[in-house]
Amino acid sequence: MELIYLSRKDVEDLHMTMKDVLAAVDNGFRLKGLGKTEMPPKPGIHPRPNAFIHAMPAYVQEVEAAGLKWVSGYPSNPGKGLPYITGLLVLNDPATGIPIAVMDCAWITAMRTGASAGIAAKYLARPDSCTAGILGCGVQARTSLMALVETLPQLKEVRCCDVFPAAAKRFMDEMGKLFPKLQLIPCDKPADIMKDADVVFSAIALVTKPKPPLDAGMLKAGGLGVSLDYDSAWTSAAMKECDKFCTDDVGQMLSIKEHGVYFSGIPKKIYADLGELAAGKKKGRTNAREKIFAMNMGIAVDDMVTAKVLYERAVKTGAGVRLPL
Ligand SMILES: NC(=O)c1ccc[n+]([C@@H]2O[C@H](COP(=O)([O-])OP(=O)(O)OC[C@H]3O[C@@H](n4cnc5c(N)ncnc54)[C@H](O)[C@@H]3O)[C@@H](O)[C@H]2O)c1
Repeated sequence: MELIYLSRKDVEDLHMTMKDVLAAVDNGFRLKGLGKTEMPPKPGIHPRPNAFIHAMPAYVQEVEAAGLKWVSGYPSNPGKGLPYITGLLVLNDPATGIPIAVMDCAWITAMRTGASAGIAAKYLARPDSCTAGILGCGVQARTSLMALVETLPQLKEVRCCDVFPAAAKRFMDEMGKLFPKLQLIPCDKPADIMKDADVVFSAIALVTKPKPPLDAGMLKAGGLGVSLDYDSAWTSAAMKECDKFCTDDVGQMLSIKEHGVYFSGIPKKIYADLGELAAGKKKGRTNAREKIFAMNMGIAVDDMVTAKVLYERAVKTGAGVRLPL
């Protein structure tokens, strides 16, 4: 028995585009909405303040993807020249349980997180959205913008803010080269990204005692707010003023809330998860005036469906290293 090991570079060299990841993740959400997935809420350990190492297992029927992601987020890493998010993903053969691949999961995490923001926009933003705001110009913000460009084809203007203006500048330089038709505008204050923005997403450092800068009254009527950083960036009032509050997994959200560290300020009523929207069980946006909020925590189904495509490409191309079990 042998498994395939894929390094970060091996994964990247398989050339899975954001369009490919969006298709895989949308299908994963659809299968989740149809009850064709198994995904217990993620347990985690916390060896340092504000740091986490999470175990994220999932099985997705039809796609036949089964596995576990073991992913860490350390806010102190960037100061040491190390990435905030690192980790590994193990895929198993669903028929035998035998491990078939081990791969770096940083690229997968970034791409499927961006795709989840894009899918939230697909179902919950106004389709004619042309202005976006971004708080936190890091890795997840880059992939989220890549996905928004796919799902909101009329996107023209993007307002960018980071606690480090140099990070915002790097982001704008890079994304400007990738999407020359987009107008990227630097903003000094978080409130400035909200001005007239149709979609706003936040991807700042996740902290346990946040002072969220995005407050009620800032999101315009008809706007969509997407949080990728739990409740670090948005006040309880900002979430509660929205007509619909959605998430990527209700079970995981309630389980995290129960631990008492995050989500104490979310609205009582969770309208839908992205699975229900993708499966057509609930309607997403129904008019151009409603304010909608999506809290995307990141789910293992997204990881497994993405990893399965990468695995199949590695089998086909011979990429990676074969290791004995
Ligand atoms: N929901 C998901 O699926 C998912 C997946 C991965 C990461 N995340 C979360 O996304 C967030 C960003 O992760 P990343 O990998 O992009 O990290 P990153 O370090 O690459 O980027 C974070 C950026 O936010 C900026 N920042 C930090 N605090 C800020 C503040 N208070 N105001 C403005 N800017 C601030 C940093 O300067 C940095 O540029 C984290 O909270 C992480 O836990 C979510």
